[in-house]
Amino acid sequence: MTVSLLALAASHRANSLNRTLLQHAIPLAEQAGAQVRQLDYDACESPLYRGEHTSLPQGAQYLADALLAHDGLLLASPEYNWSIPAGLKNLIDWLSVDPRAPLRGRTALLLCASPSARGGISGLQQVRVPLELLGMWVYPQMVGIGDAANTLQQGALLRPKDQLYLQNTVQDFVRATGALSHAH
Ligand SMILES: Cc1cc2nc3c(=O)[nH]c(=O)nc-3n(C[C@H](O)[C@H](O)[C@H](O)COP(=O)(O)O)c2cc1C
Repeated sequence: MTVSLLALAASHRANSLNRTLLQHAIPLAEQAGAQVRQLDYDACESPLYRGEHTSLPQGAQYLADALLAHDGLLLASPEYNWSIPAGLKNLIDWLSVDPRAPLRGRTALLLCASPSARGGISGLQQVRVPLELLGMWVYPQMVGIGDAANTLQQGALLRPKDQLYLQNTVQDFVRATGALSHAH
């Protein structure tokens, strides 16, 4: 069975570095045999979760439905102040009150492109915490591309060592997703 992946860049910016990074990752996942659907982050936008709800807002519902229809998620998220962007955390909080548990049993590969030298790994470390709590299997290694304002211009190639790391990681993530999702 073919592995199905959702791809999401958690940035609303027109020239998002993380969306560009995702554009590099998607063909690699497809080459590894996955079917990939990219989701529009703007369409996921949701009001702040205030601790009371009757039903999910349209944006969170759109993301939850898409997650339920796929085996795994390629998630490229910016690092904000060494942590998770508030909009993404808000969406995860909405997903957590969906009785269908749309994250449970799915896999995720976390990626970040950042202008800093560190590549945003501290932020991703915090993105993985609520995802794992909610039942996702998050790939142990994370892809942090540093100095991205210079190396990830639209249409440019990644540095060879970044490209190789991305390729190997995405390939193994697709393999692991296949093994996990077909085991149940
Ligand atoms: C509120 C805020 C906090 C940020 N904090 C960090 C940070 O901790 N580390 C980092 O590398 N970049 C940080 N940045 C810079 C972002 O990495 C940069 O804006 C990047 O382009 C965002 O990703 P995007 O292009 O996909 O939107 C921050 C940006 C904003 C707006």
